Amino acid sequence: MLIGKSKRSVKHSLFCEGSPLLLISFRAAGHRQLSILTRDSNAMYKCLAYSVSLIYGIVEVFKMSSMKAVIHYDYGSLDELQIESIERPVIKDTEVSVRVHAAGLHVADCFGVKGSPFPMRLVSGLLKPKYGVPGFDLAGEVHAVGFKVTRFKVGDAVFGIGKGTCAEFASASEETLAHKPDTLSYEEAAAVPTAALAALHALRDAGKLRPGQRVLINGASGGVGSFAIQIAKNMGAYVTGVCGRSNIEFVRNLGADFVIDYRQEDFTQRHERYNLILDNVENRSLADCRRVLTANGTLLLNSGTGARGFPFLVRLLKPLLLSPFVRHNFRRYLSTPNQADLNLLKGLLETGKLAPIVGHVYSLDETSAALRLIDSGHARGKVVVTIP
Ligand SMILES: NC(=O)c1ccc[n+]([C@@H]2O[C@H](COP(=O)([O-])OP(=O)(O)OC[C@H]3O[C@@H](n4cnc5c(N)ncnc54)[C@H](OP(=O)(O)O)[C@@H]3O)[C@@H](O)[C@H]2O)c1
Repeated sequence: MLIGKSKRSVKHSLFCEGSPLLLISFRAAGHRQLSILTRDSNAMYKCLAYSVSLIYGIVEVFKMSSMKAVIHYDYGSLDELQIESIERPVIKDTEVSVRVHAAGLHVADCFGVKGSPFPMRLVSGLLKPKYGVPGFDLAGEVHAVGFKVTRFKVGDAVFGIGKGTCAEFASASEETLAHKPDTLSYEEAAAVPTAALAALHALRDAGKLRPGQRVLINGASGGVGSFAIQIAKNMGAYVTGVCGRSNIEFVRNLGADFVIDYRQEDFTQRHERYNLILDNVENRSLADCRRVLTANGTLLLNSGTGARGFPFLVRLLKPLLLSPFVRHNFRRYLSTPNQADLNLLKGLLETGKLAPIVGHVYSLDETSAALRLIDSGHARGKVVVTIP
């Protein structure tokens, strides 16, 4: 990762958030310099003092409106991220500015930096990234709130989903934030939002899991999988997890009733039948997965990213087109963050019914390495970047 100066000019209006503070600082700096340099009341010294105080004030204002962030200006390699000083995000009326202490990363952050799969660009920018700071998940302290924000105040500890969270400051909608569980550190709280919501929405909403049902989770040791095992157990299901050999004990400790090492055994060739399969990997054919579903069982497809171009579209759409014509349900779902479910997770976390698994912690200038680990497809639990 490169460390350098911003390519973009840092321009910031004095009328944006925090401007009164900036003006006070500006005036205080001017007076301080003036008192030092104008003792002999010589006109030339006075002029010099004013200039110095002006420059000093401008530097102060610049420092207070800028922040350290990880950034990329073009799509491409995960190694081309840079650490720069850029302007802080300016919040809208319904948004909150968060001083980020920890950012949780996931595979969508890799897509955002690489600009691939291509449909991602419809959100992040067609030819170039609109806002090239990676990161959605965050935990931190409220630094400023928009006029219409009612549920948070400056100083509140929060967690949730924002924009460009691999930075000292990030903006977030009030609707995608909740107060941080008291029992969790910032690192732990940043590991929760996207992965835990994805697991909850898969099992509760898309999969309609009921107590006593049998569920198989393929990719059980990753971010979504590690939450899915715990949530499925909380819902009273019998849980089978599929992972690599090094993670068998880890998945068992999360609560799985049975664990399959995918290098030793193919879960689609077993005699057991499942009411629900949550497939975070999608490395088995539909026909193979159907073999181990109960009659009317549901296959939740939660990856779809292992192919490119036309095969990617086929892989994405084929199960949905086929589903009405077979007795099994094939489903894809999009987890939409919301405050009610973040608060539900907060309750589970505070009562010890759910625990975030922070498998890997990196510093901000190691963000490339953190994303490379996720891109390898073998991260254990969640990957978190800390911002001191
Ligand atoms: N639908 C939504 O709204 C939504 C939201 C969030 C995420 N997602 C999707 O959810 C998927 C999982 O995300 P994640 O954050 O959990 O990923 P992750 O943290 O990178 O986890 C990947 C896991 O897959 C396991 N794995 C790799 N190869 C495997 C194989 N052949 N068989 C079984 N397990 C294997 C790895 O375990 P080992 O190291 O043991 O191999 C690793 O723990 C992603 O595709 C993501 O796009 C969807």
